[in-house]
Amino acid sequence: MKILVIHGPNLNILEKRNSSIYGGKALEAINSLIEEKAKELGVEVETFQSNFEGAIVDKIQTSLDLRYDGIIINPAAFTHYSIAIRDAIEAIDIPVIEVHLSNIYGRDEFRSKSVIAPVCKGQITGLGVYSYLVAMEALKLMNK
Ligand code: DQA
Repeated sequence: MKILVIHGPNLNILEKRNSSIYGGKALEAINSLIEEKAKELGVEVETFQSNFEGAIVDKIQTSLDLRYDGIIINPAAFTHYSIAIRDAIEAIDIPVIEVHLSNIYGRDEFRSKSVIAPVCKGQITGLGVYSYLVAMEALKLMNK
């Protein structure tokens, strides 16, 4: 089983962002925990980060070649307005889980709308890095 984890814009500078909201960890540390979890679950994982909408769309489209069994995506700010990412997810046939470090429903009003979630299998929000780890467990369970 192979899982693709996509991190959206500004997550590459996570350690510089508000630590009371995002936890203060750098993306590399989060990716290490993701890799550790993958080993524990006996799955392969690939991580990808981009600040560019088109690069994220291209990456999602690679799963049309059956490269992955599931995708976990933190679309970051694109969550709230990227119809291009939504359409790419809608076009592929594997489970996609949207994740967020912070609880998008407990912050600014504009963050409580996700245009991506309706085309995802589900959404996990507000559990910090555990949002990613719980999503990995769910994909593994669904793949049985
Ligand atoms: C985020 C929440 C988004 O609203 C925000 O734009 C981010 C990170 C999160 O993981 O909590 O960049 O996706």
